[in-house]
Amino acid sequence: MAYIEVKHSYKHYTVGENTIVANHDINFTIEKGELVIILGASGAGKSTLLNILGGMDSNDEGDIFIDGTNIAHFNEKQLTHYRRHDVGFVFQFYNLIPNLSAKENVELAVEIVNNAQDPEETLKAVGLAHRINNFPAQLSGGEQQRVSIARAIAKNPKLLLCDEPTGALDYHTGKQVLKLLQYMAQHDGTTVIIVTHNSALCPIANRVIRMHDAKIKSITINEHPQDIDTLEY
Ligand SMILES: Nc1ncnc2c1ncn2[C@@H]1O[C@H](COP(=O)(O)OP(=O)(O)O)[C@@H](O)[C@H]1O
Ligand SMILES: [Mg+2]
Repeated sequence: MAYIEVKHSYKHYTVGENTIVANHDINFTIEKGELVIILGASGAGKSTLLNILGGMDSNDEGDIFIDGTNIAHFNEKQLTHYRRHDVGFVFQFYNLIPNLSAKENVELAVEIVNNAQDPEETLKAVGLAHRINNFPAQLSGGEQQRVSIARAIAKNPKLLLCDEPTGALDYHTGKQVLKLLQYMAQHDGTTVIIVTHNSALCPIANRVIRMHDAKIKSITINEHPQDIDTLEY
């Protein structure tokens, strides 16, 4: 069995009298240690899918097997344990705690897990050695995003889910972050899923899952993912 197997997954939202179909008959597999890109325009259903994979939202129908276990059947307690121990999540808009420093934001996240990385070392790895004691309001968007990435990777999660992780970053910082994510997949065996609307990032992934209108449009495998240093976007 693949590390992730999504089978006939559906999700809709009801807003007033309207039903919005966010995910319609989603099917795919992902192998352990892959770097995967979920590509699609705004509104395609990417964040909905990522939130379901991360145990932050539940689907209406269908199976979500992670490492052989169907999380679609988890109760709240099992979901909490799964989010805490297995998943690192990088949010599109950072979600940092404003009155905690960069280091404290990372420390808070690793307190609840075993075999975490050292918060200071992780912040250094994302290029924030000089920002460790700054508060989020004192950091640029790109720096805040890197704190949020440090917070997720410091947990040493099996599954790292990133929602538009380079959306707020300048070109150089974006590349630095992508290199870190690719490194985690290649060297640590972390399964990394990146949601983006930027098709120029596709060559770096092992697998590209294209979404359109709540559905999967195509799935492509790159036998030889491109090194990020040589990527132009
Ligand atoms: N909590 C929600 N309540 C109502 N509608 C939602 C909610 N979350 C997402 N949607 C809708 O579901 C569709 C897919 O959204 P989303 O998964 O956020 O897409 P993407 O991340 O690809 O932009 C959109 O039409 C969006 O407006
Ligand atoms: Mg989104």
